Amino acid sequence: MTFDQQLIENTHRVLSENKVDISGKDKNFYDRLITGVDTIFGLFQEIYRFHPKSEELFGQLLVTLIQGYKSRGKDLRKRDEEKEQKGHWYLSNELTGMSLYVDRFAGNLPNMGEKLAYLDKLGVNFLHLMPLFQSPEGESDGGYAVSDFRKVDERFGSIDDLIVLRKKMQKKGMYLMLDIVLNHTSHHHEWAKKAKAGDPFYQDYYYMYDNRWIPNQFEEQMPDIFPESSPGNFIYDHDCKKWVMTVFHTYQWDLNFTNPIVFREMLDNILFYANLGVDVLRIDAPAFIWKQTGTACQNLPQAHTLLKLIKQCVLVSAPGMALLGEAIVAPKEIMKYFGTGDFTAKECDFAYNATQMALQWDMLASGDTRVMLACQHDILQKPYGTSWITYTRCHDDIGLGYDDSKIAEVGKNPYQHRRFLKDYFSGAFPNSPARGALFSSNPKTGDARISGSLASLCGLEKALWENDPHGIDTSIQKISLMQAHSFFLGGLPIIFYGDEAGYTNDYSYQTDPGKSYDNRWMHRPVIHWEKNKKIGETGTIENRVFTVTQKLIAIRKKLAVVGDHKNLTWLPPHNIHVAGYLRTLGDQKLFAIFNFSGHPANLTWHAFKEHGVAPKKLYDHWTEKEFEVGPDHEHLVLGSYEFLLLEPR
Ligand code: GLC
Repeated sequence: MTFDQQLIENTHRVLSENKVDISGKDKNFYDRLITGVDTIFGLFQEIYRFHPKSEELFGQLLVTLIQGYKSRGKDLRKRDEEKEQKGHWYLSNELTGMSLYVDRFAGNLPNMGEKLAYLDKLGVNFLHLMPLFQSPEGESDGGYAVSDFRKVDERFGSIDDLIVLRKKMQKKGMYLMLDIVLNHTSHHHEWAKKAKAGDPFYQDYYYMYDNRWIPNQFEEQMPDIFPESSPGNFIYDHDCKKWVMTVFHTYQWDLNFTNPIVFREMLDNILFYANLGVDVLRIDAPAFIWKQTGTACQNLPQAHTLLKLIKQCVLVSAPGMALLGEAIVAPKEIMKYFGTGDFTAKECDFAYNATQMALQWDMLASGDTRVMLACQHDILQKPYGTSWITYTRCHDDIGLGYDDSKIAEVGKNPYQHRRFLKDYFSGAFPNSPARGALFSSNPKTGDARISGSLASLCGLEKALWENDPHGIDTSIQKISLMQAHSFFLGGLPIIFYGDEAGYTNDYSYQTDPGKSYDNRWMHRPVIHWEKNKKIGETGTIENRVFTVTQKLIAIRKKLAVVGDHKNLTWLPPHNIHVAGYLRTLGDQKLFAIFNFSGHPANLTWHAFKEHGVAPKKLYDHWTEKEFEVGPDHEHLVLGSYEFLLLEPR
């Protein structure tokens, strides 16, 4: 018997032991499994072939897939089929997302249901609910330190409340995204507690060492993620008298994926989330899931193999669930999370366009689009069928992670340029309108990231404080420019809650000991519904920002051309202050043009004639005005921070 035949025979044995009706009601599942098992086995072997119980553990993995499938509700299986018929459902221009903390937005899950009307009004039909599972108060990292992957934290409600909400959302045509925190658990998770108590089986779930010999080797190459609040990557646990790897906060213990049992446990959790009705699963911090001394322990090939394996397993048991890899790493590395080689477009379906997000902030501060353009070659390599999450702000900091070489390419000094950006957004630069703060400054490397809400970074906080009407107008114009740029770029735009109503920084975190060490809380507001009611009062800040956001979403929904069909071309830089991209789909075209400077900017009409038939007229979806395309020596004039969404007519 060949090896392949044996694999198929073993698979059949496991299927029959688990009473799968392969020619009847479970036929579709059977087809998916039997087609995918070879690939799944290959990927599993790539990582775990040297494990003494590798074969037995592979059998258990198959059981996990079968159980995952069997626990999938009929409604979700039907949804899987509908999505399959639609093809790449998540590339659509009709989706617009919002990311929010249920407690800070609505209080709890039952109240969340009542807020769907507000989101509907805005046009949001995709929700990223920030981590909901049990996480110890004060040592929670916003829910990213999970102590029970199956229990919704009491302050939000229960699993049943979550399911009720999901069903309500689905009825309204909304989609749900949740996180799986794959890299670590809270040190209060039962696995960690058993490990602390000395159980060697659970100690093998984590990276634990009796002395500093191996930790020191790791530390040689591992950077610090939170150098101010959590320097180093190991902590000494006095209960079990061992050094434990904690890459993020000291209360987040890194899971040991060299142990196949850990992989299976986490796959089981992934399928559990799939069966709660998750449409997109956000895999938190996937870059970190494989560790090896002598490396930075980020983006290692084995981390990619594990993600491919997860993708293949999900395709078998819960095929309608897409995966988002939250890899906020160097531009070239981000791209690899979409899969490479034979697995191109077969790893994560989504990644954050973190590079472009940071570059938008670069353009806003410098008024210069050249560094952004220099980075596009890498960003455009994204394979067809995968997509970006496009955004201006999220719950995390803004990292300026693009290459120094790209800054140097346009004749700027990388050190001075980054220094300018940090000073500009932290408000230290003379006359800077931005009110943000540096996050995780590392004195050893000089690196720092940036915290601050969209509104505060765009100058609204300062303008309000100074009671400066012109400053208020400019900041709202900047907010609109930033959102528009990310909404039409291609990908699924995810707005961060509060940004739709112009929330500025919230400094109350400074007096909460569970948050004061982490200034990312300044841009994670508590929503005051009295304030949000003002979205209905013409002329208020809330109303002005909400209406802009609402209109941008509505325009996006009308234009199929802005769906992510790998259909973006950057316009050549006729004016360094103006960024422009062309979206094309069949006969449809859209020129999106953005002036990132505080002065009027001219763009030659020639810019619209370089891509196929020269248009005679351009209709702007934003101002609802039409322009006659002039001769090449004349210009389209954009006001300060103005943008236009031009469709050839
Ligand atoms: C991700 C989250 C971030 C968290 C980290 C550790 O990057 O977005 O908020 O601190 O993972 O879980």
